[in-house]
Amino acid sequence: MSVPEIKIPGGGDVSSLLGVDLMAQARQEAAIQTAEYAPGEQEALVGQIKSLLQKENAVLVAHYYTAPQLQQLAEETGGYVSDSLEMARFGNEHPATTLVVAGVRFMGETAKILSPEKRILMPDVSATCSLDLECPVDLFSEFCDAHPDHTVVVYANTSAAVKARADWVVTSGIALPIVKHLAQQGKKILWAPDQYLGGYVQGISGVEMLIWPGSCVVHEQFKAVGIRALAARYPDAALLVHPESPAEIVAMADVVGSTTALIQAGSDLAATEFIVATEPGIFYKMKQAEPDKLFLEAPSGGVGGSCESCQRCPWMGMNGLRNLATALETGSGEIHVGEDLRQKALVPLQRMMDFAKTLHTSK
Ligand code: 13P
Ligand code: SF4
Repeated sequence: MSVPEIKIPGGGDVSSLLGVDLMAQARQEAAIQTAEYAPGEQEALVGQIKSLLQKENAVLVAHYYTAPQLQQLAEETGGYVSDSLEMARFGNEHPATTLVVAGVRFMGETAKILSPEKRILMPDVSATCSLDLECPVDLFSEFCDAHPDHTVVVYANTSAAVKARADWVVTSGIALPIVKHLAQQGKKILWAPDQYLGGYVQGISGVEMLIWPGSCVVHEQFKAVGIRALAARYPDAALLVHPESPAEIVAMADVVGSTTALIQAGSDLAATEFIVATEPGIFYKMKQAEPDKLFLEAPSGGVGGSCESCQRCPWMGMNGLRNLATALETGSGEIHVGEDLRQKALVPLQRMMDFAKTLHTSK
């Protein structure tokens, strides 16, 4: 795998762009949003949100990694719980004039890029993603400029500005077919920002890619030694792994796939026990589909390490019922994307959506 060194102003590698303070702030905010509810508080908030969704002609779209209360509320109110690609598609096709996106900022921006006529609200617009933070547009543009003969493919977990610099946007669910499609046309590929997903796609497709050295703070923490120890206690358990995880974890997996693919595998495989290497918010849907099966969190560096809960995405955790109610009540947390930037970012995003349609129709 070819992962180049990116020159960071002031030195360090791209992980130094993450900022310890930003992570700590996100964890603090997540702790506030997920703090236990006072007696009756949760029911009151749910009632308030339900009537505000109606009043504002709004629909709630939640990612699989958000808190179970949010996923349940989306389902109860005619909204949707899904992966980032399906969230965008559902929001775009739904007639509501306001979309409330419970997830991270790139998901809100994607919704705005695809549906500019709609008001997009998020419980907290500062909920971001390490992949987005580690790929600032100025450094990324320099990198692209240095390799003008490459087709630029970026993961959806990026800012609108980075998307605007790309030829294609992909999600984990569609990355492989798109890269194969480009390879068939003889294209050289520049990939950003997730190095592990990039390495996985490169390994399967056999396509040589220049890969930006970003990573997900959640998935990069899974450790083979911990997974082996858990597997020894559950020898019949199947291992499900998201491809943002390091190569040694992916190599151990029974199934590697996007969030949707992992939920599907929980149903499709004959196994009744699973070790799951992705964000544990996904357990809400896994258990809903298979209430009699056992789903276990894959161990990360968090146990006895420097991080208390490495499997939990600090930014996904910033979404709660409290700030969701406030966003709907006050209109706070609105996502804006300038029209010029939106039009540029729409081009590679629309390419992905159109490509996805050809896959659906050829099934
Ligand atoms: P999906 O594209 O599968 O929803 O994943 C998004 C994500 O942030 C994974 O960490
Ligand atoms: Fe980003 Fe990782 Fe959180 Fe997904 S789990 S939003 S990739 S930091």
